[in-house]
Amino acid sequence: MPFQKLKPQVEDILQNKEASVDKRLTEVCELLETSIPYYDWVGFYFKNGNKEELKLRSFAGEPTDHEIIPFGRGICGQVAVSNKNFVVPDVKAQNNYIACSIHVKAEIVIPLFVKGENVGQIDIDSHTADPFSHEDEIFLEWLNEKVAEIL
Ligand code: SME
Repeated sequence: MPFQKLKPQVEDILQNKEASVDKRLTEVCELLETSIPYYDWVGFYFKNGNKEELKLRSFAGEPTDHEIIPFGRGICGQVAVSNKNFVVPDVKAQNNYIACSIHVKAEIVIPLFVKGENVGQIDIDSHTADPFSHEDEIFLEWLNEKVAEIL
């Protein structure tokens, strides 16, 4: 797992105040998508103003039709209300799932908290079946804490 090697790179990107926050988030998505073989789409969704929905802010991978996701819908919408990590080893086994691509076999969504409030999430799709471990969760929780510091 390259997570320990990725951490300083993530910190460098996030601390680069020359770039906008959106640009930094996109660069983090690109870093993860290119560095981790089973991360095929990486994106950040955030609560859309005061609406009960998520809006896609930054991503790496194929463009998705699902830029807006109502709370409660799909894996992302469920995490918006549960405030809990959601690891899906097999997307076919989920009935509340929004398919973005026929290639996606697994997904992980980790909520992002600012001052204890669930304001968004990182969402990762994988073309590999059952690829995510507890190490992914720990790394992505760390990453979201770092992102929270620059929002
Ligand atoms: N599969 C997600 C939708 C977002 S795409 O993965 C980019 C879901 O079920 O919420």
